[in-house]
Amino acid sequence: MSTTANERKIGDVILDLQNISLSFGGVKALTDISFNVREHEIRAIIGPNGAGKSSMLNVINGVYHPQKGKISFRGKERRSMNPHDAASHGIARTFQNIALFKGMSALDNIMTGRNTMMKSNFLSHAFYWGPAQKEELEHRRKVEEVIDFLEIQHIRKKQVGRLPYGLQKRVELGRALAAEPKLLLLDEPMAGMNVEEKQDMCRFILDVNDQFGTTIVLIEHDMGVVMDISDRVVVLDYGKKIGDGDPQEVRSNPEVIKAYLGTQH
Ligand SMILES: Nc1ncnc2c1ncn2[C@@H]1O[C@H](COP(=O)(O)OP(=O)(O)O)[C@@H](O)[C@H]1O
Ligand SMILES: [Mg+2]
Repeated sequence: MSTTANERKIGDVILDLQNISLSFGGVKALTDISFNVREHEIRAIIGPNGAGKSSMLNVINGVYHPQKGKISFRGKERRSMNPHDAASHGIARTFQNIALFKGMSALDNIMTGRNTMMKSNFLSHAFYWGPAQKEELEHRRKVEEVIDFLEIQHIRKKQVGRLPYGLQKRVELGRALAAEPKLLLLDEPMAGMNVEEKQDMCRFILDVNDQFGTTIVLIEHDMGVVMDISDRVVVLDYGKKIGDGDPQEVRSNPEVIKAYLGTQH
């Protein structure tokens, strides 16, 4: 799998984080962290529990606003942005704990991924029925495409809360993909999965990256997965960056071995 990753064409920097610091009261979640993400790459963030990985994703998609630092996305510099802006600029994500509407069908959940793109509102539906209907059809077409891609046709009408865990994770990925993101943020997409579910998820992540050219930032605990599918890895520990490089470099970095690879998680 790693050969596929290396053969792909990695582009220019699409996301650049400079000297990001974030604290909650007295807790320093992130201290002076800088790294970048290149277009089309799969960039992993690893580190022990509490290292600041999820906080980092929350900074990237505007849920948390860092006290210090700068973020550039697709050439535009900003201190912070809100999640809605992030979504409309092409950033989509999945969460460490699945965040889906459990009572709704897989199809309807994936449809919510189109929300930020829906131009028509109640009024335009009332007065301009034609264009609104055309737009609706286009959204449905895209959603069906995602469903085919993720091979979940058989569960499209099923209530999400009743699906096995691995499939719920896949639906959540579907919702993120429905937004046609430039940058996809995945917070532990394989946590809690069995081996077969993990293999499926790995394949989908690689296919998304390969077929749509989507840039991916991935938090993952399974070191085998990280080493296999990522182009570059950034390592956090107690909110500080202790390693950054390709999987080989990171694996042989003594500080990383001490902090992370040598211990169980
Ligand atoms: N909303 C929050 N309020 C207070 N502390 C938080 C919040 N989010 C994260 N933290 C703290 O920031 C640190 C990093 O957490 P997190 O980013 O979730 O780590 P990771 O995802 O690497 O396990 C932890 O000490 C955590 O308790
Ligand atoms: Mg986390």
